[in-house]
Amino acid sequence: MDLREQADASLREVMSIYPTGVTVVAASDPDGSPYGLTVNSFTSLSLEPPLVLVCIGHTSSSHARLIVAPAFTVNVLAADQEEVASRFSRDPSEGRFQDFPWRRAVSGAPVLDGVAAWLECSVHEVLAGGDHSIVVGRVQRSAVSDRPALLFHRGRLGPTAK
Ligand SMILES: Cc1cc2nc3c(=O)[nH]c(=O)nc-3n(C[C@H](O)[C@H](O)[C@H](O)COP(=O)(O)O)c2cc1C
Repeated sequence: MDLREQADASLREVMSIYPTGVTVVAASDPDGSPYGLTVNSFTSLSLEPPLVLVCIGHTSSSHARLIVAPAFTVNVLAADQEEVASRFSRDPSEGRFQDFPWRRAVSGAPVLDGVAAWLECSVHEVLAGGDHSIVVGRVQRSAVSDRPALLFHRGRLGPTAK
């Protein structure tokens, strides 16, 4: 049997074999300063109304800011944006937008250049989820390109699942 059955396979191990896309969730502080972090826990929740969710860890420095933000963007990274995923997941958070091309969506939240697609959301609800908060966004605007998306699989970033 191919399936390696073991009672102690960790949740982390199981999730690592499930390929996902990679996004940068971004917003701006009341003073206009942009911030953002790499997130793969992005999924759609409802079509009518149009809702999506992202899960943000309590230890992330963006957490306290994001749960009170009025709006955020979800930037779906393109296959050639592996370095962008690393930049937005590396410490420190400061400087991630420095020398990186981006613009503001209507809410002021950042849209990164070169992404495969993006969504602008108002914060609809924030729910408790263990050591993460589930931030539910209502989609206000969206855009897609022809660029293929970056994937995350077995702990690796790349253009295809391995
Ligand atoms: C591929 C990938 C996916 C990630 N997904 C998430 C996620 O869904 N939620 C989360 O809170 N952190 C996620 N992270 C970790 C954050 O990007 C990382 O902890 C970041 O430094 C947090 O930034 P901050 O402290 O400025 O908020 C992910 C990292 C990588 C590389």
